[in-house]
Amino acid sequence: MAWDFAQIHQGVHQDIEGVHDLQALEAFRIKYLGKKGLVSDIFDSLPRLSPEEKPLVGKQVNELRNLLTQLINAKKDEVQQTKKSASSPFFDVTLPGIGWPVGHRHILSQAIDEICGLFEKLGFAVMEGPEIESEENNFEGLNIPADHPSRDGFDTFYLDVADPGDKTKKLLLRSHTSPGQVRIMKAHKPPLAVIIPGKVYRPDAVDASHSFMFHQIEGLLVADDVKFFHLKGLLTTFCQRFFGPDIQMRFRPHFFPFTEPSAEVDISWKHGKKEWLEIMGCGMVHPAVFKAVGYPEGKYTGLAFGLGVERIAMLRYGIQDIRVFFENDQRFLKQF
Ligand code: DAH
Repeated sequence: MAWDFAQIHQGVHQDIEGVHDLQALEAFRIKYLGKKGLVSDIFDSLPRLSPEEKPLVGKQVNELRNLLTQLINAKKDEVQQTKKSASSPFFDVTLPGIGWPVGHRHILSQAIDEICGLFEKLGFAVMEGPEIESEENNFEGLNIPADHPSRDGFDTFYLDVADPGDKTKKLLLRSHTSPGQVRIMKAHKPPLAVIIPGKVYRPDAVDASHSFMFHQIEGLLVADDVKFFHLKGLLTTFCQRFFGPDIQMRFRPHFFPFTEPSAEVDISWKHGKKEWLEIMGCGMVHPAVFKAVGYPEGKYTGLAFGLGVERIAMLRYGIQDIRVFFENDQRFLKQF
């Protein structure tokens, strides 16, 4: 036979194996099916063949052409498929997802919420006052006149801004939440029971137990006949609910200009060595404070208290250094 079709087929299969891109496929097509390709050579040779060979070769060349078309189409699909999967990013649906860390409230916010919540259950309303205060509310209204020695106990950040209400005085960053008492009493008539959480500022050098900014919660209850035992009962209930029923408490006489009589509250846990730790100041609202807010003389009585949130959180969780609350170290914050 003029053409060795077995050998041609072998060559075709070998050639198509080596094709991996469209360019090589086109070269393959030209080699076999192009105008000057092998298939066309075979067709051209037909007139020169013997009458016996002609139909045989004609049949085989047709078969070869069909085969080549099939191979080319299949290869084209294959090349395009690999190209597609190489360019799309690898995506393994069985891999575990990336979890986004979920934040939570800061330990101090949690403590403030919890303390306010306990007082809310006892009928107190939560109110807030501004961090920038007047001398009037921070001091005078609380029976702390300018020349009074007790002002020394309240070192204060003064702002270089005159008080719009009294140009001879400066505004300041409140040094305690007690001015909230003055604001509330100026705006509302008794009976009232409020709890006032907030930030306070004092120019203290920062160390393990001092910070120039910290949080207080102020409490105030004013009505017709409030007595010291109401104060004791209220604060005992609070401490038992916050620290646990085993907590021991004592009220130690103290002095605050805005309360009379005044006391500091100490607590102690039964277990461990007996140690008293001061947690808040309190007392019966001083008549001079009622006078400053314009309440009629002798009409009302009230109780007040103020506690430091950091201090209470440090005691409850055994935290040794106040600075950790403000450093935003996740290793600390995540524990609460
Ligand atoms: N304002 C006081 C302070 O910062 C705390 C305080 C004591 C508040 C006695 C009160 C109180 O309401 O009755 O040290």
